[in-house]
Amino acid sequence: MHSEWIFSQIQTQKIIKKINLLDFASGNGRNSISLSNKNIIVTAIDKDQEKLNLYKNLSNINTICFDLETKEEWPLVEEYYDIIIVVNYLYRPSIKKLINLLKKDGLLFYETFSAGNEKYGSPKNPNFLLKDGELLDIFGKDLLPLSYYNGPINYGKMAIKQRASFKKGALK
Ligand SMILES: C[S@@+](CC[C@H](N)C(=O)[O-])C[C@H]1O[C@@H](n2cnc3c(N)ncnc32)[C@H](O)[C@@H]1O
Repeated sequence: MHSEWIFSQIQTQKIIKKINLLDFASGNGRNSISLSNKNIIVTAIDKDQEKLNLYKNLSNINTICFDLETKEEWPLVEEYYDIIIVVNYLYRPSIKKLINLLKKDGLLFYETFSAGNEKYGSPKNPNFLLKDGELLDIFGKDLLPLSYYNGPINYGKMAIKQRASFKKGALK
């Protein structure tokens, strides 16, 4: 089942022409598969080829197997994506590079676990847990914040998550 928040955010966009959507660390493709259609062309990147194999032949999805945590340049085109989604993935050293991948007026939707989640289950490692306000700190200087939430989410199982969306546009 896809992330309901991500899905609802994309559903509210009026997409009437073809757009490029990047699913960053796409895993088994639950979000890529739900979101892709004739107007939403998905690039799904993950280091796990076995997971990518589950959806690499589907229409409107291009999969890329790549380790996003090496010094090698990402095989992704700058200023190309209208929408970038990141769900349940965090690698602080290079996460700001997502900004360059967005087109002008492009949207970033980011949802992952945050501090306090340790009480409920994985992840518990602070490297994978955002601090309250951290997505705003990371992206808020270069992108326009549109929404922010940090706190409990119950999707059948309790978790502490942070969700934020941003737009790349003219800043003050
Ligand atoms: C918890 S899963 C989330 C997958 C997907 N975004 C979702 O919400 O279903 C995290 C994903 O990050 C990928 N990942 C972890 N380290 C990575 C790396 N160094 N490079 C690329 N992908 C990585 C894993 O293979 C895994 O599919």
